[in-house]
Amino acid sequence: MLEIHVLNGPNLNLLGRREPAVYGHETLADIEARLRAKAEAEGVALTFLQTNDEGALVSAVQEAGLKGAGVVINAGAYTHTSIALRDAIAGSGALAVEIHLSNVHARESFRHHSMIAPVCKGVIAGFGAASYTLGFDACLSALRARPDAAARP
Ligand code: DQA
Repeated sequence: MLEIHVLNGPNLNLLGRREPAVYGHETLADIEARLRAKAEAEGVALTFLQTNDEGALVSAVQEAGLKGAGVVINAGAYTHTSIALRDAIAGSGALAVEIHLSNVHARESFRHHSMIAPVCKGVIAGFGAASYTLGFDACLSALRARPDAAARP
């Protein structure tokens, strides 16, 4: 069974009450529920996690990458700062899709640079909560297109 880990970084636990004009009114639990329904329909095993700790996020990426799971990651502010996260994606060979609710390129210049984008398969930003479903779909199609997909359990 294909496996996708949706990993959320700092402050995403505040979705729904956090700057709603930027991030919308949906909570992370709403987003998780939608993804769980989608994963079930697609026959994908879903892991969904949020942490405010950089080290925990690094460990979660390593775990997913080493077991061959796809990763959909909203790393929050660590996107812009974390070399450790970038190294975890590259080092574990994770097939990762970077996502953001907001269009980071239309915001402050410090959000324009991503440490992790160069080691991700692609980036989706600016579609609100739909960035998660778009990221899930992109990750799933990339997993299915992997040359060794048929050989994986
Ligand atoms: C974010 C964008 C980041 O710049 C910010 O630090 C976040 C959320 C987004 O989903 O739009 O925490 O990743």
